Amino acid sequence: MPNGLITSLSYISTARASLADADFQAILTEANERNDTLGLTGLLAFNGLNFMQILEGSRLSVNECIDLIEADRRHHGMIIFDRREIKQREFPDWQMAGIVVEKNGQNGKVNLDQILSGEGVRPETRKHFESFQSFGTPAQ
Ligand SMILES: Cc1cc2nc3c(=O)[nH]c(=O)nc-3n(C[C@H](O)[C@H](O)[C@H](O)COP(=O)(O)O)c2cc1C
Repeated sequence: MPNGLITSLSYISTARASLADADFQAILTEANERNDTLGLTGLLAFNGLNFMQILEGSRLSVNECIDLIEADRRHHGMIIFDRREIKQREFPDWQMAGIVVEKNGQNGKVNLDQILSGEGVRPETRKHFESFQSFGTPAQ
């Protein structure tokens, strides 16, 4: 994909009540399959209440996929808070990295830190996901 032609879109949404970890894993499986076909990459985090996702790829693919995602009954209230053209992907190695983050949860934090430590990840992106984690439900 030529430089300058990558669209990056970020949103938050509210998960359907009673969404379980198994549902989250099912979402990730679907996401990885379709994203592979569409050439999309990104990061999806679930904090027990909300989702935060970054999707990156061609404008056409991002638009196509976000329409499908928005119509998905497993969440609602999508708010797109950032949409930009970027020169290089922030998550080139992930068809869709997925993590359950828990407030003060060590496991989630370690994984999140690892994913966010990628070379191309912007400081703003790190801040968004770190604050998102702090809004989550406390670790059991
Ligand atoms: C929070 C959330 C994030 C999702 N992210 C993706 C994604 O990145 N890529 C994808 O292909 N599907 C993703 N999905 C799943 C699609 O919404 C789902 O596969 C699609 O709506 C099913 O459409 P179909 O029934 O027409 O196959 C996501 C779903 C949710 C709830």
